[in-house]
Amino acid sequence: MEDNDWKLLKIIEISMKNHEWVPIQDLRRKTGFHEKEIVFRLGRLNKFKFTNKSNYGYRLSHWGYDALAMNAFIKKELIAGIGGKVGVGKEGDVYHVLLTNHREAVLKFHQLGRTCFSMGKRYREYLANKRHISWLYASRLTAAREFEVLNMLFPVVKVPEPIEQNRHAIIMGKLHGEELKRVNLLEINVDPEEFFWKLMVEVKKTYKLGIIHGDLSEFNILIDSEGDFVIIDWPQAIEVGKKGKLDKLPFEEVEYDEEFYLKRDIENVVRYFKKYGIDKDIDKLYNYVIGDITSENI
Ligand SMILES: Nc1ncnc2c1ncn2[C@@H]1O[C@H](COP(=O)(O)OP(=O)(O)OP(=O)(O)O)[C@@H](O)[C@H]1O
Ligand SMILES: [Mg+2]
Repeated sequence: MEDNDWKLLKIIEISMKNHEWVPIQDLRRKTGFHEKEIVFRLGRLNKFKFTNKSNYGYRLSHWGYDALAMNAFIKKELIAGIGGKVGVGKEGDVYHVLLTNHREAVLKFHQLGRTCFSMGKRYREYLANKRHISWLYASRLTAAREFEVLNMLFPVVKVPEPIEQNRHAIIMGKLHGEELKRVNLLEINVDPEEFFWKLMVEVKKTYKLGIIHGDLSEFNILIDSEGDFVIIDWPQAIEVGKKGKLDKLPFEEVEYDEEFYLKRDIENVVRYFKKYGIDKDIDKLYNYVIGDITSENI
């Protein structure tokens, strides 16, 4: 990819606000490239599968969007190299990356807005006429949201360090561990009861900072062989005492049922720890998290 290829790809990205398929004449005008150069560069972009082509023109592909985000990180001299996917046979798009400062990190590409429940009716209507760019918007919004939440919580709560966001991609600190689901705490000499309480302390600190995870479970807790851990996967998090936070776009204000989400998070953790013979009362834990009672009373 040469500078002019990136320039053309970015112009296609921007033009998608107004076009499902960007006509080649528009691209000529906006880039100022000659006919021959446009044809040549579009051929390259298509070969790399960064664009799709139809009789009406060109559009950005998912890979093209990934490439734009990656290129931004490289231009910023942040990433030195990209490795394989994190985890084996995973659906999510999370990759190992090496930063230029020699630190290992992970790069998470957000796909289509999976956090749709936080998007109101007005937003859906708004996107209905713009279906061809909804994936661009939605994936960028969820990434921005996750990055924002990580910034609100780090380093008080045990979450990955937020490093950078661009478009639908975020770079964050890496934990050399596994999902709690796949770990036997007894094998790594971690006391389940103690670990359970460590998690509850994090849930409580998160709540104190005004956040509820909203999708907490053994799949979104990573633990390493030393028993150190982080809570991941925050795009759907909700803010305590606030209506739908995503109000910059035409989002409808949503009143969250905070008690419901917080209790569900606690319940998921409690359910998981039953296999270690730990049985807790959800309501008492809820009161502990919101600060009404202390852990001695549970
Ligand atoms: N900071 C991190 N350090 C190490 N591994 C990570 C990190 N963040 C994510 N992962 C790995 O990537 C997987 C997916 O991340 P995450 O849960 O944030 O995304 P997701 O959209 O929920 O994807 P999935 O549906 O596969 O869980 C995690 O289960 C974990 O194995
Ligand atoms: Mg997850």
